[in-house]
Amino acid sequence: MFLNSLHNSSSSLLCGCCFSFMQLLAVFILVFPCYGTRTSQASCNQLDRNSLLSIYNGVSTSSPLNWSVSIDCCSWEGVSCAYNGRVSRLWLNSRGLEGKISISITNLSHLRQLSLAHNQLSGHLPERLFLSLNRLEMIDLSYNSLSGQLQASGDHLPVFIKTVDLSSNNFEGIVHSLFLQPARNLISFNVSNNSFYGQLPSVICNFSASIILLDFSLNHFNGSIPFGFGTCSNLRVLRAGFNSIMGSLPGNFFDLSTLQEISFPGNKISGPLSNGIVNLTSLKVLELYANELIGPIPHEVGKLSNLEYLLLHMNYLNGTLPLSLMNCTRLTKLNFGVNSLSGELSGIDFSNFLRLRTIDLGTNLFNGSFPLSIASCPSLTAIRLSTNQLTGEIQPEIQSLQSLSFFSIANNSLTNITGAIRILSGCKNLGVLLLSKNFRHESLSNEGNLVGSDGFPNLMVLALGRCQLNGKIPIWLAKLGKLEVLDLSENAFTGPIPNWLGVLPNLFYLDLSNNLLSGQLSAQVLGLPRLVRKQMADEVHYSYIELSLFVKPYNLSSLQYNKLSSLPPAIYLNGNHLSGNIPVEIGQLKFIHNLDLSDNQLSGIIPDSISYLTNLERLNLSENQFSGEIPSSLKNLHFLSSFSVANNNLQGPIPTGGQFDTFSDASFLGNPGLCGQPLGRPCTDLRKTTAALSPADKESLETKVIFWLTFGIGFGISFSVSFVTVGLSSRMFPPGSCCRRIFYQL
Ligand SMILES: *[C@@H]1O[C@H](CO)[C@@H](O)[C@H](O)[C@H]1NC(C)=O
Ligand SMILES: *[C@@H]1O[C@H](CO)[C@@H](O)[C@H](O)[C@H]1NC(C)=O
Ligand SMILES: *[C@@H]1O[C@H](CO)[C@@H](O)[C@H](O)[C@H]1NC(C)=O
Ligand SMILES: *[C@@H]1O[C@H](CO)[C@@H](O)[C@H](O)[C@H]1NC(C)=O
Ligand SMILES: *[C@@H]1O[C@H](CO)[C@@H](O)[C@H](O)[C@H]1NC(C)=O
Ligand SMILES: *[C@@H]1O[C@H](CO)[C@@H](O)[C@H](O)[C@H]1NC(C)=O
Repeated sequence: MFLNSLHNSSSSLLCGCCFSFMQLLAVFILVFPCYGTRTSQASCNQLDRNSLLSIYNGVSTSSPLNWSVSIDCCSWEGVSCAYNGRVSRLWLNSRGLEGKISISITNLSHLRQLSLAHNQLSGHLPERLFLSLNRLEMIDLSYNSLSGQLQASGDHLPVFIKTVDLSSNNFEGIVHSLFLQPARNLISFNVSNNSFYGQLPSVICNFSASIILLDFSLNHFNGSIPFGFGTCSNLRVLRAGFNSIMGSLPGNFFDLSTLQEISFPGNKISGPLSNGIVNLTSLKVLELYANELIGPIPHEVGKLSNLEYLLLHMNYLNGTLPLSLMNCTRLTKLNFGVNSLSGELSGIDFSNFLRLRTIDLGTNLFNGSFPLSIASCPSLTAIRLSTNQLTGEIQPEIQSLQSLSFFSIANNSLTNITGAIRILSGCKNLGVLLLSKNFRHESLSNEGNLVGSDGFPNLMVLALGRCQLNGKIPIWLAKLGKLEVLDLSENAFTGPIPNWLGVLPNLFYLDLSNNLLSGQLSAQVLGLPRLVRKQMADEVHYSYIELSLFVKPYNLSSLQYNKLSSLPPAIYLNGNHLSGNIPVEIGQLKFIHNLDLSDNQLSGIIPDSISYLTNLERLNLSENQFSGEIPSSLKNLHFLSSFSVANNNLQGPIPTGGQFDTFSDASFLGNPGLCGQPLGRPCTDLRKTTAALSPADKESLETKVIFWLTFGIGFGISFSVSFVTVGLSSRMFPPGSCCRRIFYQL
C-alpha cells in the first residue's frame, strides 16, 4: 500500500565521485599493472580448491558460478592462480552473493587480491582474516552489509597491503592503531559510509609514508582533526565529510603540498578559514560546506589556480568576494551560498571563468545589479543568486548564456518582469527559471508575442510566485509545451482560469493559489493530460536538474529535490474567488496527489467522482459553501492522509472506515449539519450544537506541501559525498504534521 506513493522517493547516490573514482583507478593501475593478464600456469592446489568450494557453499546467488569440480579451479570464474598453483586472486564483484564469508577463506594464504565488492554479504569478517591472508595487497569489500569491529581478536592489516576498501558496509568501532600499524605500504584506505567512531586515525600516516588517498566520510568520527595528517607527505585526497568533527584545520595541514582534495563537508569545523590554505597550490577540490566557518574568504584564494571545485556554502562566512578569486580560472563549480557574504556583485569580473559550469551565491547579502560579466562565462549551466539584495533589470547580455539551464534569482528586488521574460526567453536551454519574490506590484504583459514562437523551448519549471503581479494569467504561457511545473501563487491575477492551461501537455504541478481569480472551475482545466492519462503520467521527467532544490537548507537531513519526478503531482487553487460547482470531470485527475480548492466560493455538492482520484494524499475543500453530504465513497481513497471540509454547509453523517477513522475533528469543524465521529455529535441529535472554529482548525487550512518554488532555493549538489535524496511524500511526515505548510527559508 505504500509502494504507490513511494515511487517518488528514490534513494539515489549523487555521484560526483567520478573524479575520485578515476584517482582510485589510477592507483590500481599504478599498483597492479598486470590485472587481467595473469593466467594459470600450474593446476590448482587442492586445499585452495576445497576452500573455494566451501566459500561458495556458504553463500547463495541467483546466477550460479560455473565452478565445476571437473575443471581446474585456476580456470574458474573470478579465480587466478600463481605459478605454484596457489590462488592469488579472487574477484567476485557484483555476483549477487548473499550470506557470510566462510572462515575457509583464511586458507587462501597466497591471495594477493581479493574483491567481493557489490554483493549482499553480511555478518562479521572471519576471525583473523588479515593475519591469515598475509600476502594480501589489495582488498575490496565495499558495498556489502558486513558488520563488526576491525580489530576483533587482534587482527591487523598485513605488511604488503596497498589498497583497502571497506566502504559502504556496517562496520563499527574504532579504527585502532594496532590494526593499521603493520601496513607500511598502504596507499589507499577507504572506510567511508560505515559506523566507525572515535578520533580520525591520522596515526595511519606514521605507519605508511606512501598514502595517497584516505576516505573516512559518512561515519561517526568525532573530536578534532588530529595533527598527524601533516606527516602524510604524499597525500592527495583526504575526505572525512559527514561526521562530527570539530575544531579548525590544523596548521600543519597546509604543508601538504601534494593535496588535491580536502573534503570535510557536514561537520562542525569552526573558526576562520586560515590563509595558510592558499599554500596548497595543487588543490583541485576544496569542500568545507555545511560547517561553522566564520570570517572572510582568504584574500589570496587566487593562488589556488588549480581549483576546480570550491564549495564553502552553508557556513558563516562574511566579507566580500576576494578579487583574486578571478585567478582561479579552472573553476567549474563555485558555491558560496548560505553565508553572510556582501558587496556589490557587479564589481566582480567573472569573465575569466571560462570553465565555470555552476555558480551559487544564493542566500547572502550581495547587492548591486546582476553582474553582467557572468554572461561571458561560456560554460555556465546553472546560476543561483536568490535571496540577496540585487536590484535593477535583467539585461539582454544574459542571452549569450546559451547553455544556461538553471537560473534562480528569486527573492531579490529586480524590476521589469516583462523585460525579464522577453530577454530570458532567448536563453533557449533554460529548463528551470525561478523568479519569485521580485517585480513587486508590476503588471505582467499578456501580449501573445512576448515570448517568440520558439521562446523557452525547454522550460520545465517556471516560478513567478509572491510578486503581487497584476493582470491576467498571460496567454504566452500556452506556448510552453514542455512546462511541467508552474507556480504563480500569491500574485494579484484576475479573471478566470484560462481553459488552455488544461491542455499544456506536460503540466503536472499547477499552483495558482492566493490570487484574485474568479469564475467557474471548467472541465477543461481539470483535464490536464499528465494527470489524466496513464501513458502521460508515466512520462515524468526523470532527468536531474542542474542544482538541487533544497527544502530546508539549514538542515542536512532535510529534503532536497534534484529530480522533478520527486514532486507530487498537484493542483493548488486555494485562496481565490472561484465560484460554482466542482465539475464531475474532476474524477479524471487520476494521477493527482494533492488537490487544494479551499478558501473560494465554490458551492453545490462534493462530487462522488472525487473518489476516482485513487492517488490522492491531500484534499482540502475547506472554507467554501459546499452543501449536501460528504460522499461515503471517499473512504475508498486509501492514500488520503490529509483531508479537510471545514467551514462549509455540509450535513449528514461523516463517513466511517478507511482513512476517515484517522482524521481529527479539525477536518470537519464549521459544518453545523455534520454528525458522527470524530465530532462526537450523534447523528440522531443534530440540531443541538454548533461547532466553533478552533486554532487547530485554522492550521489545517494550510495544506500546501511545498514552497520551494517560490523561495525554495537552497544550494548545490554535494560533490564528493553521496547524498541521499528523497522525494517529498506525505508518508515521510510524522503523523499530525499532515496539514501544516512545511516551510522553508532559503
Ligand atoms: C565461466 O564463466 C566465465 C564468465 O562467465 C567465463 O569467462 C569462463 O570461461 C567460464 N569457465 C568455464 C570453465 O566455463
Ligand atoms: C570510497 O568509497 C566510496 C564508496 O563506498 C566511493 O564513493 C568513494 O569515492 C571512495 N573514496 C575515494 C576517495 O575514492
Ligand atoms: C592574478 O594572477 C596574476 C598573475 O599571476 C597576478 O599578476 C595578479 O596580481 C593576480 N590577481 C590578483 C587579484 O591576485
Ligand atoms: C523593460 O525591459 C524592456 C526590455 O529590456 C525594455 O524595452 C523596457 O523599456 C523596460 N521597461 C521599463 C519600464 O523599464
Ligand atoms: C533536521 O530535520 C530532521 C527531519 O526533518 C529532523 O528530525 C531533525 O530534528 C532536524 N535537525 C535540526 C538540527 O533541525
Ligand atoms: C527573502 O530575503 C530576505 C532578505 O533579503 C530574507 O529575510 C527572507 O527570509 C527571504 N525569504 C525567504 C522566504 O527566505
